[in-house]
Amino acid sequence: SVSHPFYGNVHQAGVQTEPQRHCVYMTFDVDPGTTATDLQSLFAMWSAGIAQLMQGKPVGLVQPPRAAAVPADTGEATDLSPNALTVTLGLGPGIFDDRFGLAHKRPTLLKKLPALPSDNLQAALSGGDLSLQACAEDPQVAYHAIRDLARIGRGTVSTRWTVMGFGRASAGANQMTPRNLMGFKDGTRNVRSDDEFRQFVWLDDADWMSGGTYQVARKIQMNIEIWDASGIGSQQDVFGRTKSEGAPLGEKKEFDTPDFAATEHGQHVIPQNAHIALAAHENNGGVKILRRSYNYTDGINQFGQLDAGLMFIAYMNDPQHFVKLQTRLGSYDQLNEYISHIGSAIFAVPPAPEAGHYLAEKLFS
Ligand code: HEM
Repeated sequence: SVSHPFYGNVHQAGVQTEPQRHCVYMTFDVDPGTTATDLQSLFAMWSAGIAQLMQGKPVGLVQPPRAAAVPADTGEATDLSPNALTVTLGLGPGIFDDRFGLAHKRPTLLKKLPALPSDNLQAALSGGDLSLQACAEDPQVAYHAIRDLARIGRGTVSTRWTVMGFGRASAGANQMTPRNLMGFKDGTRNVRSDDEFRQFVWLDDADWMSGGTYQVARKIQMNIEIWDASGIGSQQDVFGRTKSEGAPLGEKKEFDTPDFAATEHGQHVIPQNAHIALAAHENNGGVKILRRSYNYTDGINQFGQLDAGLMFIAYMNDPQHFVKLQTRLGSYDQLNEYISHIGSAIFAVPPAPEAGHYLAEKLFS
Protein backbone atom coordinates (compact mmCIF):
# COMPACT_ATOMS: atom_id res chain seq x y z
CA SER A 1 0.00 0.00 0.00
CA VAL A 2 0.98 3.64 -0.31
CA SER A 3 3.54 5.02 2.12
CA HIS A 4 4.58 8.64 2.49
CA PRO A 5 8.12 9.71 3.40
CA PHE A 6 8.70 11.52 6.70
CA TYR A 7 12.19 12.88 6.06
CA GLY A 8 13.59 15.07 3.35
CA ASN A 9 10.52 16.90 2.10
CA VAL A 10 10.37 20.60 2.75
CA HIS A 11 6.84 20.30 4.17
CA GLN A 12 5.37 17.91 6.70
CA ALA A 13 3.09 15.31 5.16
CA GLY A 14 -0.63 15.47 5.93
CA VAL A 15 -1.26 18.94 4.54
CA GLN A 16 -0.86 18.83 0.77
CA THR A 17 -1.10 15.02 0.91
CA GLU A 18 -4.28 13.74 -0.78
CA PRO A 19 -6.67 13.36 2.16
CA GLN A 20 -6.86 9.77 3.43
CA ARG A 21 -10.20 8.32 4.55
CA HIS A 22 -9.64 8.37 8.32
CA CYS A 23 -8.19 10.78 10.82
CA VAL A 24 -7.45 10.68 14.53
CA TYR A 25 -6.70 14.13 15.84
CA MET A 26 -5.35 14.66 19.35
CA THR A 27 -4.07 17.61 21.31
CA PHE A 28 -1.77 17.56 24.33
CA ASP A 29 -0.78 19.83 27.19
CA VAL A 30 2.80 19.92 28.39
CA ASP A 31 3.01 18.71 31.99
CA PRO A 32 4.03 21.15 34.74
CA GLY A 33 7.75 21.09 35.48
CA THR A 34 8.73 20.13 31.92
CA THR A 35 11.84 21.89 30.61
CA ALA A 36 12.85 22.94 27.10
CA THR A 37 15.27 20.00 27.06
CA ASP A 38 12.42 17.60 27.90
CA LEU A 39 10.45 19.06 24.99
CA GLN A 40 13.46 18.68 22.76
CA SER A 41 13.78 14.98 23.52
CA LEU A 42 10.03 14.50 23.08
CA PHE A 43 10.21 15.99 19.57
CA ALA A 44 13.21 13.78 18.77
CA MET A 45 11.43 10.65 20.01
CA TRP A 46 8.16 11.55 18.31
CA SER A 47 9.99 12.20 15.04
CA ALA A 48 11.76 8.85 15.18
CA GLY A 49 8.45 7.17 16.04
CA ILE A 50 6.50 8.91 13.28
CA ALA A 51 9.18 7.96 10.74
CA GLN A 52 8.77 4.30 11.71
CA LEU A 53 4.98 4.40 11.79
CA MET A 54 4.72 6.04 8.36
CA GLN A 55 6.63 3.07 6.96
CA GLY A 56 4.22 0.65 8.62
CA LYS A 57 6.76 -0.35 11.27
CA PRO A 58 6.23 -0.53 15.03
CA VAL A 59 7.83 2.08 17.33
CA GLY A 60 9.67 -0.70 19.19
CA LEU A 61 9.38 -4.37 20.01
CA VAL A 62 5.84 -5.78 20.06
CA GLN A 63 7.05 -9.00 21.66
CA PRO A 64 10.22 -8.40 23.66
CA PRO A 65 12.31 -11.49 24.52
CA ARG A 66 12.21 -11.16 28.32
CA ALA A 67 8.90 -12.06 29.96
CA ALA A 68 9.06 -9.12 32.37
CA ALA A 69 9.58 -6.55 29.60
CA VAL A 70 6.70 -4.23 28.66
CA PRO A 71 6.20 -4.13 24.88
CA ALA A 72 7.39 -0.82 23.39
CA ASP A 73 4.74 -0.98 20.65
CA THR A 74 1.15 -1.83 21.50
CA GLY A 75 0.89 -4.13 18.49
CA GLU A 76 -2.53 -3.54 16.94
CA ALA A 77 -1.07 -2.32 13.64
CA THR A 78 1.14 -5.39 13.20
CA ASP A 79 0.42 -6.94 9.77
CA LEU A 80 -1.35 -3.78 8.60
CA SER A 81 0.59 -1.96 5.90
CA PRO A 82 1.38 1.80 6.12
CA ASN A 83 -2.05 2.62 4.62
CA ALA A 84 -0.78 6.06 3.56
CA LEU A 85 -0.36 7.08 7.19
CA THR A 86 0.78 10.63 7.81
CA VAL A 87 1.31 12.20 11.23
CA THR A 88 1.51 15.98 11.38
CA LEU A 89 2.83 17.82 14.45
CA GLY A 90 1.57 21.25 15.46
CA LEU A 91 2.93 23.61 18.14
CA GLY A 92 0.40 25.68 20.07
CA PRO A 93 0.87 29.23 21.39
CA GLY A 94 1.64 27.80 24.87
CA ILE A 95 4.99 26.43 23.67
CA PHE A 96 6.17 30.01 23.30
CA ASP A 97 5.01 31.44 26.62
CA ASP A 98 7.41 32.00 29.54
CA ARG A 99 7.74 28.34 30.53
CA PHE A 100 10.42 27.17 28.14
CA GLY A 101 12.44 30.26 27.24
CA LEU A 102 11.36 29.90 23.61
CA ALA A 103 9.44 33.18 23.30
CA HIS A 104 12.03 34.58 20.89
CA LYS A 105 11.26 31.68 18.51
CA ARG A 106 7.48 32.27 18.42
CA PRO A 107 6.18 31.94 14.85
CA THR A 108 5.29 35.50 13.91
CA LEU A 109 1.55 34.97 13.42
CA LEU A 110 0.93 32.37 16.15
CA LYS A 111 -1.43 33.57 18.84
CA LYS A 112 -4.67 32.35 20.34
CA LEU A 113 -7.65 32.89 18.08
CA PRO A 114 -9.88 35.77 19.19
CA ALA A 115 -13.48 35.15 20.26
CA LEU A 116 -15.51 34.86 17.06
CA PRO A 117 -19.20 35.36 16.30
CA SER A 118 -21.36 32.28 17.03
CA ASP A 119 -18.60 30.64 19.10
CA ASN A 120 -20.03 28.06 21.48
CA LEU A 121 -16.68 26.73 22.59
CA GLN A 122 -16.12 24.25 25.39
CA ALA A 123 -12.80 24.55 27.20
CA ALA A 124 -12.46 20.77 27.32
CA LEU A 125 -12.58 20.65 23.50
CA SER A 126 -10.31 23.62 22.87
CA GLY A 127 -6.69 24.69 22.97
CA GLY A 128 -3.67 22.51 23.59
CA ASP A 129 0.11 23.00 23.56
CA LEU A 130 0.67 20.39 20.84
CA SER A 131 -1.42 18.64 18.20
CA LEU A 132 -0.97 15.41 16.29
CA GLN A 133 -3.06 14.75 13.20
CA ALA A 134 -2.84 11.12 12.09
CA CYS A 135 -4.51 10.31 8.78
CA ALA A 136 -4.61 6.90 7.09
CA GLU A 137 -6.72 4.73 4.83
CA ASP A 138 -7.25 2.34 7.75
CA PRO A 139 -8.72 3.70 11.01
CA GLN A 140 -6.76 1.26 13.17
CA VAL A 141 -3.47 2.41 11.66
CA ALA A 142 -4.33 6.04 12.50
CA TYR A 143 -5.47 5.15 16.01
CA HIS A 144 -2.40 3.04 16.67
CA ALA A 145 -0.12 5.90 15.65
CA ILE A 146 -1.77 8.35 18.05
CA ARG A 147 -1.93 5.81 20.85
CA ASP A 148 1.73 4.90 20.65
CA LEU A 149 2.86 8.50 20.27
CA ALA A 150 0.76 9.48 23.31
CA ARG A 151 2.47 6.63 25.14
CA ILE A 152 5.91 7.89 24.16
CA GLY A 153 4.87 11.31 25.45
CA ARG A 154 3.76 10.06 28.86
CA GLY A 155 5.57 11.92 31.64
CA THR A 156 6.05 14.98 29.42
CA VAL A 157 2.63 15.63 27.90
CA SER A 158 -0.96 14.72 28.79
CA THR A 159 -3.84 14.23 26.39
CA ARG A 160 -6.26 17.16 26.21
CA TRP A 161 -8.95 16.49 23.59
CA THR A 162 -9.36 14.19 20.65
CA VAL A 163 -11.64 13.65 17.69
CA MET A 164 -11.95 10.51 15.62
CA GLY A 165 -12.74 11.42 12.05
CA PHE A 166 -14.06 9.03 9.44
CA GLY A 167 -14.79 9.89 5.86
CA ARG A 168 -12.69 12.69 4.45
CA ALA A 169 -14.69 15.83 3.75
CA SER A 170 -12.23 17.42 1.34
CA ALA A 171 -10.56 16.46 -1.90
CA GLY A 172 -7.00 16.47 -3.17
CA ALA A 173 -6.10 17.40 -6.71
CA ASN A 174 -6.80 13.90 -8.07
CA GLN A 175 -9.74 12.86 -5.92
CA MET A 176 -13.50 12.89 -6.34
CA THR A 177 -15.21 15.33 -4.02
CA PRO A 178 -16.59 13.47 -0.97
CA ARG A 179 -19.62 14.52 1.06
CA ASN A 180 -20.03 15.85 4.58
CA LEU A 181 -22.73 14.56 6.93
CA MET A 182 -25.22 17.08 5.55
CA GLY A 183 -25.02 15.14 2.31
CA PHE A 184 -23.34 17.91 0.30
CA LYS A 185 -20.09 17.65 -1.65
CA ASP A 186 -17.39 19.32 0.41
CA GLY A 187 -14.08 20.47 -1.01
CA THR A 188 -15.18 21.47 -4.51
CA ARG A 189 -13.50 24.86 -4.45
CA ASN A 190 -10.42 24.33 -2.36
CA VAL A 191 -6.72 25.15 -2.53
CA ARG A 192 -5.42 22.63 -5.11
CA SER A 193 -2.52 23.63 -7.35
CA ASP A 194 1.11 24.01 -6.24
CA ASP A 195 0.81 27.69 -7.06
CA GLU A 196 -2.17 28.07 -4.73
CA PHE A 197 -0.32 26.18 -2.00
CA ARG A 198 2.63 28.55 -2.39
CA GLN A 199 0.38 31.57 -2.30
CA PHE A 200 -2.04 30.58 0.49
CA VAL A 201 -0.61 27.74 2.59
CA TRP A 202 3.18 27.50 2.85
CA LEU A 203 5.36 29.93 4.72
CA ASP A 204 8.53 31.04 3.02
CA ASP A 205 11.05 33.52 4.31
CA ALA A 206 9.81 32.76 7.84
CA ASP A 207 13.09 31.86 9.59
CA TRP A 208 12.91 28.37 11.18
CA MET A 209 9.23 28.07 10.19
CA SER A 210 9.97 28.36 6.44
CA GLY A 211 8.20 25.47 4.71
CA GLY A 212 5.69 25.29 7.56
CA THR A 213 2.15 26.55 7.87
CA TYR A 214 -0.60 27.27 10.42
CA GLN A 215 -3.32 24.81 11.37
CA VAL A 216 -6.74 25.89 12.63
CA ALA A 217 -8.88 23.10 14.12
CA ARG A 218 -12.59 23.57 14.89
CA LYS A 219 -14.86 20.86 16.17
CA ILE A 220 -18.19 21.77 14.59
CA GLN A 221 -21.28 19.96 15.82
CA MET A 222 -24.18 19.56 13.42
CA ASN A 223 -27.80 19.68 14.56
CA ILE A 224 -28.39 16.66 12.43
CA GLU A 225 -32.01 16.06 13.36
CA ILE A 226 -33.01 19.63 12.51
CA TRP A 227 -31.10 19.47 9.24
CA ASP A 228 -32.73 16.17 8.32
CA ALA A 229 -36.16 17.71 8.83
CA SER A 230 -35.55 20.64 6.47
CA GLY A 231 -36.68 20.80 2.86
CA ILE A 232 -34.33 20.30 -0.05
CA GLY A 233 -34.91 23.86 -1.27
CA SER A 234 -33.75 25.41 1.95
CA GLN A 235 -30.86 22.92 2.27
CA GLN A 236 -29.63 24.05 -1.15
CA ASP A 237 -30.10 27.71 -0.24
CA VAL A 238 -27.98 27.21 2.89
CA PHE A 239 -24.94 26.22 0.85
CA GLY A 240 -25.79 27.94 -2.46
CA ARG A 241 -25.31 24.63 -4.28
CA THR A 242 -27.43 21.72 -5.48
CA LYS A 243 -27.32 18.58 -3.40
CA SER A 244 -26.76 15.76 -5.90
CA GLU A 245 -24.45 17.42 -8.42
CA GLY A 246 -23.00 20.06 -6.13
CA ALA A 247 -23.43 22.72 -8.82
CA PRO A 248 -23.62 26.37 -7.78
CA LEU A 249 -27.29 27.44 -7.84
CA GLY A 250 -28.13 28.67 -11.34
CA GLU A 251 -25.39 26.52 -12.95
CA LYS A 252 -25.30 22.90 -14.13
CA LYS A 253 -22.05 21.24 -13.10
CA GLU A 254 -20.08 20.92 -9.88
CA PHE A 255 -17.07 22.84 -11.14
CA ASP A 256 -19.01 25.63 -12.89
CA THR A 257 -18.08 29.04 -11.52
CA PRO A 258 -20.72 30.46 -9.19
CA ASP A 259 -22.35 33.66 -10.37
CA PHE A 260 -22.88 35.60 -7.18
CA ALA A 261 -24.40 38.57 -9.05
CA ALA A 262 -27.13 36.61 -10.86
CA THR A 263 -30.71 37.53 -9.89
CA GLU A 264 -34.13 36.16 -10.71
CA HIS A 265 -37.40 37.93 -9.85
CA GLY A 266 -35.29 40.50 -8.00
CA GLN A 267 -33.67 37.87 -5.73
CA HIS A 268 -30.11 36.60 -5.79
CA VAL A 269 -30.02 33.08 -7.28
CA ILE A 270 -27.30 32.26 -4.76
CA PRO A 271 -28.59 33.93 -1.57
CA GLN A 272 -26.14 36.48 -0.22
CA ASN A 273 -26.17 34.69 3.13
CA ALA A 274 -25.51 31.28 1.56
CA HIS A 275 -22.36 29.58 2.88
CA ILE A 276 -20.46 29.80 -0.39
CA ALA A 277 -21.47 33.40 -1.07
CA LEU A 278 -19.92 34.44 2.24
CA ALA A 279 -16.88 32.14 2.04
CA ALA A 280 -15.83 32.51 -1.60
CA HIS A 281 -12.60 34.34 -2.36
CA GLU A 282 -14.43 36.56 -4.87
CA ASN A 283 -16.27 38.16 -1.96
CA ASN A 284 -13.38 38.12 0.52
CA GLY A 285 -10.60 40.15 -1.00
CA GLY A 286 -9.07 37.02 -2.56
CA VAL A 287 -8.54 35.04 0.65
CA LYS A 288 -8.31 31.22 0.37
CA ILE A 289 -7.56 28.56 2.98
CA LEU A 290 -6.93 24.84 2.56
CA ARG A 291 -9.79 22.85 4.11
CA ARG A 292 -8.84 19.29 5.06
CA SER A 293 -11.78 18.26 7.23
CA TYR A 294 -13.24 14.95 8.40
CA ASN A 295 -16.72 13.80 9.38
CA TYR A 296 -16.90 12.69 12.99
CA THR A 297 -19.44 11.10 15.28
CA ASP A 298 -19.56 10.88 19.07
CA GLY A 299 -22.52 8.49 19.05
CA ILE A 300 -25.72 9.90 20.55
CA ASN A 301 -26.18 12.80 22.92
CA GLN A 302 -28.06 12.98 26.24
CA PHE A 303 -31.35 13.47 24.38
CA GLY A 304 -30.83 10.37 22.27
CA GLN A 305 -30.07 12.42 19.17
CA LEU A 306 -27.25 11.74 16.74
CA ASP A 307 -24.13 13.55 17.93
CA ALA A 308 -21.98 14.22 14.89
CA GLY A 309 -20.41 16.93 12.80
CA LEU A 310 -17.36 18.14 11.00
CA MET A 311 -13.83 18.10 12.35
CA PHE A 312 -12.81 21.17 10.42
CA ILE A 313 -9.04 21.32 9.92
CA ALA A 314 -7.66 24.13 7.79
CA TYR A 315 -4.16 25.21 6.79
CA MET A 316 -3.07 28.70 5.82
CA ASN A 317 -0.03 30.95 5.89
CA ASP A 318 -1.89 33.62 7.84
CA PRO A 319 -4.40 32.69 10.59
CA GLN A 320 -6.10 36.06 10.05
CA HIS A 321 -7.53 34.55 6.87
CA PHE A 322 -9.52 32.11 8.99
CA VAL A 323 -10.48 34.88 11.40
CA LYS A 324 -11.72 37.01 8.54
CA LEU A 325 -13.77 34.18 7.03
CA GLN A 326 -15.27 32.98 10.29
CA THR A 327 -16.14 36.54 11.34
CA ARG A 328 -18.34 36.76 8.24
CA LEU A 329 -19.68 33.21 8.44
CA GLY A 330 -20.35 33.37 12.17
CA SER A 331 -22.34 36.57 11.70
CA TYR A 332 -24.39 35.93 8.57
CA ASP A 333 -24.19 32.31 7.38
CA GLN A 334 -27.56 30.52 6.99
CA LEU A 335 -25.66 27.39 8.01
CA ASN A 336 -25.40 28.71 11.60
CA GLU A 337 -28.92 27.50 12.23
CA TYR A 338 -27.67 23.93 11.86
CA ILE A 339 -24.16 23.98 13.35
CA SER A 340 -22.30 24.94 16.49
CA HIS A 341 -18.54 25.49 16.84
CA ILE A 342 -17.80 23.61 20.07
CA GLY A 343 -14.01 23.21 19.92
CA SER A 344 -11.18 25.39 18.67
CA ALA A 345 -7.40 25.43 18.54
CA ILE A 346 -4.54 26.87 16.57
CA PHE A 347 -1.08 25.46 15.93
CA ALA A 348 2.06 26.29 14.00
CA VAL A 349 3.10 23.37 11.81
CA PRO A 350 6.88 23.33 11.45
CA PRO A 351 8.57 22.11 8.25
CA ALA A 352 9.68 18.47 7.86
CA PRO A 353 13.15 17.47 9.09
CA GLU A 354 16.08 16.33 6.95
CA ALA A 355 17.16 12.73 7.47
CA GLY A 356 19.00 12.46 10.78
CA HIS A 357 17.13 15.44 12.24
CA TYR A 358 13.82 15.91 14.00
CA LEU A 359 10.74 18.10 13.96
CA ALA A 360 11.15 21.64 15.31
CA GLU A 361 14.84 20.98 16.04
CA LYS A 362 15.67 24.57 15.10
CA LEU A 363 13.65 25.75 18.07
CA PHE A 364 16.48 24.69 20.31
CA SER A 365 19.50 26.06 18.44
C1 HEM B 1 -17.40 25.66 0.85
C2 HEM B 1 -19.68 22.85 4.05
C3 HEM B 1 -17.58 25.25 7.69
C4 HEM B 1 -15.02 27.80 4.50
C5 HEM B 1 -18.23 24.71 1.40
C6 HEM B 1 -19.13 23.86 0.66
C7 HEM B 1 -19.74 23.07 1.56
C8 HEM B 1 -19.26 23.43 2.87
C9 HEM B 1 -20.79 21.99 1.27
C10 HEM B 1 -19.35 23.89 -0.85
C11 HEM B 1 -18.43 22.96 -1.60
C12 HEM B 1 -17.00 23.42 -1.68
O1 HEM B 1 -16.66 24.33 -2.45
O2 HEM B 1 -16.20 22.86 -0.93
C13 HEM B 1 -19.31 23.27 5.31
C14 HEM B 1 -19.83 22.71 6.54
C15 HEM B 1 -19.24 23.39 7.56
C16 HEM B 1 -18.34 24.36 6.97
C17 HEM B 1 -20.85 21.59 6.62
C18 HEM B 1 -19.41 23.23 9.05
C19 HEM B 1 -19.95 22.17 9.61
C20 HEM B 1 -16.70 26.16 7.14
C21 HEM B 1 -15.86 27.05 7.89
C22 HEM B 1 -15.13 27.78 6.99
C23 HEM B 1 -15.53 27.32 5.67
C24 HEM B 1 -15.80 27.15 9.41
C25 HEM B 1 -14.09 28.84 7.23
C26 HEM B 1 -14.06 29.67 8.24
C27 HEM B 1 -15.43 27.42 3.24
C28 HEM B 1 -14.86 27.95 2.02
C29 HEM B 1 -15.56 27.35 0.96
C30 HEM B 1 -16.54 26.45 1.58
C31 HEM B 1 -13.73 28.96 1.90
C32 HEM B 1 -15.36 27.57 -0.54
C33 HEM B 1 -16.28 28.66 -1.01
C34 HEM B 1 -16.12 28.93 -2.49
O3 HEM B 1 -15.04 29.36 -2.89
O4 HEM B 1 -17.10 28.75 -3.22
N1 HEM B 1 -18.34 24.44 2.75
N2 HEM B 1 -18.42 24.26 5.62
N3 HEM B 1 -16.49 26.36 5.81
N4 HEM B 1 -16.42 26.53 2.94
FE1 HEM B 1 -17.46 25.43 4.27
